[in-house]
Amino acid sequence: FKQKTAYEIRLSLVGSEMCIRDRTAICSVEQGSLIYRGYEIHDLAQNATFEEVSFVLLEGRKPEPHELSRFKGEIIKERAIPGAVIDYLRASGPMLKSGTAVPMDVLRTAVSILGNLDPESQSVAADANLRKSKRLLARIPTIIGHMQNVIDGRPLVAPETGGDASLSHAANLLYLMTGTKPSPEFAHVVDVSLILYAEHDYNASTFATRVIAGTLSDMHGAVCGGIAALKGPLHGGANEAAMEMLKEIMQDVGESGIGTKKVDDWMDDAFVQKRKLMGFGHRVYKNGDHRAPILHKLGRQVAAKNTANPGGHSASKWFDLGEQVQKIMLDKKSIHPNVDFPCGLTYFTMGIPVPQYTPIFVASRITGWCAHIMEQHADNRLIRPVAQYTGPALKKWKA
Ligand code: CMC
Repeated sequence: FKQKTAYEIRLSLVGSEMCIRDRTAICSVEQGSLIYRGYEIHDLAQNATFEEVSFVLLEGRKPEPHELSRFKGEIIKERAIPGAVIDYLRASGPMLKSGTAVPMDVLRTAVSILGNLDPESQSVAADANLRKSKRLLARIPTIIGHMQNVIDGRPLVAPETGGDASLSHAANLLYLMTGTKPSPEFAHVVDVSLILYAEHDYNASTFATRVIAGTLSDMHGAVCGGIAALKGPLHGGANEAAMEMLKEIMQDVGESGIGTKKVDDWMDDAFVQKRKLMGFGHRVYKNGDHRAPILHKLGRQVAAKNTANPGGHSASKWFDLGEQVQKIMLDKKSIHPNVDFPCGLTYFTMGIPVPQYTPIFVASRITGWCAHIMEQHADNRLIRPVAQYTGPALKKWKA
């Protein structure tokens, strides 16, 4: 069907499946390219910083130097989080320890409290939305960092300022998590990963934020919905799930089993069990995810310089294993890795705790979500798909 308004939704066929098509000026995801507001992803990964990409997504154009320094200043100023959120993060320790909550759940609730405390929480006006986007962008790394400090049982890093004003967004995130300023190389790799994760048109979590925003609900509420959608292992949760799967393979085949038939056997068993291999496949990309090789190459370089990691195996061994798994998937199933596969390997090699991989994805995708929420609010029409009824035929309650 087709609704003829400024807000147009069409149903069309992708492969054998019906899907909803809408319009956006933010991002284009095609087999041959991934473009944020006219800039191609390889170009951005090589030549831009995450702060620049955030400006492009939120403010809609490439920043002039003075605009970028104004933007960075605004973000740095907003990094500290309110005491009530800190109190909640402290209280979340036992929940995280018992496993009733995982970091994505704690992040979702912390964002919800931020909303409750935001003086502009109820406004959907464009200027208020932009200010809220910047506050969310600034504060999500602080939530992740303080949460990790609570998990590790160390004092919170820089709670008064939300980090070190001399550090980039990516470097500050690592600093907040560990209390140690990262090497330029680690900061660069995380910066690139944030660029790659920032936006991807109507993926499930972004669509969720637009559906929520489309009811004229508020930005923080929409972002909470986005976080809940991203958490699932078929979406953003795949970066954690991919690493857990690799750990399982490594445990089963052992380091000496890499490069031998043992990995083939493990994979064959997984195929027989019809197991979904995490970090592989994509709803849109059928010939490979543009982002995956960019991160794989960087992660490989980091691994080559780091002799050991939390798994106790040499860091490069994880990439050796990952490449073997990729080759078998491609040879036997013709399925390519998506960005979450090299992301899991790369973050693991850098010693980042696995349960924080998807929260770090949020620290990046918040830019794309907020851009979409603003686009939706700016020209809104309720999103309301129509279901085809397949239940019982009409019958009488009282025969
Ligand atoms: N492992 C094993 N088989 C797979 C996989 C996989 N990862 N992905 C697809 N297939 C199979 C699928 O079972 C189907 O087989 P059959 O025809 O025998 O039923 C065939 O390949 C075609 O799959 P499809 O219908 O084109 O895949 P889809 O579009 O329904 O699903 C997906 C896309 C991402 C949900 C799926 O590939 C998947 O579950 N992957 C693992 C989770 C994952 O890595 N998610 C991250 C997605 S990308 C980045 C992000 O969002 O964060």
